[in-house]
Amino acid sequence: MRILFFGDVFGKAGRQALFTALPGLKQEFKPDFIIANAENLADGKGLTEKTLHPIFNEGVDAVTGGNHLWDRADSLDYIRREIRIVKPMNYPPTIPGNPYHVLEKGELKLGIICLCGQTYMPSCDSPFLTLEHFLTEQHDGIPILLDFHAESTSEKRAMGWYADGKLCAVIGTHTHIQTADEEILPLGCAYVTDVGMTGAHDSVIGIKKNIIVDKFLTSIPNRYVASDLGLQINAVFIETDDETGIATDITRIKRDLQ
Ligand SMILES: [Fe+2]
Ligand SMILES: [Fe+2]
Repeated sequence: MRILFFGDVFGKAGRQALFTALPGLKQEFKPDFIIANAENLADGKGLTEKTLHPIFNEGVDAVTGGNHLWDRADSLDYIRREIRIVKPMNYPPTIPGNPYHVLEKGELKLGIICLCGQTYMPSCDSPFLTLEHFLTEQHDGIPILLDFHAESTSEKRAMGWYADGKLCAVIGTHTHIQTADEEILPLGCAYVTDVGMTGAHDSVIGIKKNIIVDKFLTSIPNRYVASDLGLQINAVFIETDDETGIATDITRIKRDLQ
């Protein structure tokens, strides 16, 4: 199975980068499934039907969320309805979103889950205990990819080790900064601490850089404006063995589009 996963697609610039690069990346990697983290899709804050629909139309099969998934109050009904939006499983069950989604293509099946970290993040249940509970309940043997949406590198690394032998991939998201530590762990889990951000990298994690620098200099709050400079694709390509379900390859993708 061949899987392409895009790191946090940030605002209009991120959507533009994705639309520009997707045809070429499809040709190059021939993915069976395409997944993207979409918590920042609408101007950096949450997602809307208007911004997500074209992403699905371009061939993205499912999107994952994160702490920003519910930032748009007017999108909550849409998130509740659209089963291809995978919410963090360790948030309250009443919060909109689907906690587990299975992608199918012919004989191939891939389960998608998302969990948020607890360190330097809004409060949520333990991602480790939530995963343990899910795996105890889930007996269908489908290979599972986890988007681990977390700030702390140690929490993410620990999750990689915990998930090795249980999941086919642990893809870190949330920091918007790509890490160069992609590897296949000993028991066949593809791992990267953070896949990075798809969007404007001439920025501070997506926002115009002078706004954030000024904030650090003056502490005066200012309205955030998304950057549109330095478009980059940050993604990973993962290949798994169709017989065993374990990962055999992970390739880190970082492409400048300007
Ligand atoms: Fe994000
Ligand atoms: Fe986040």
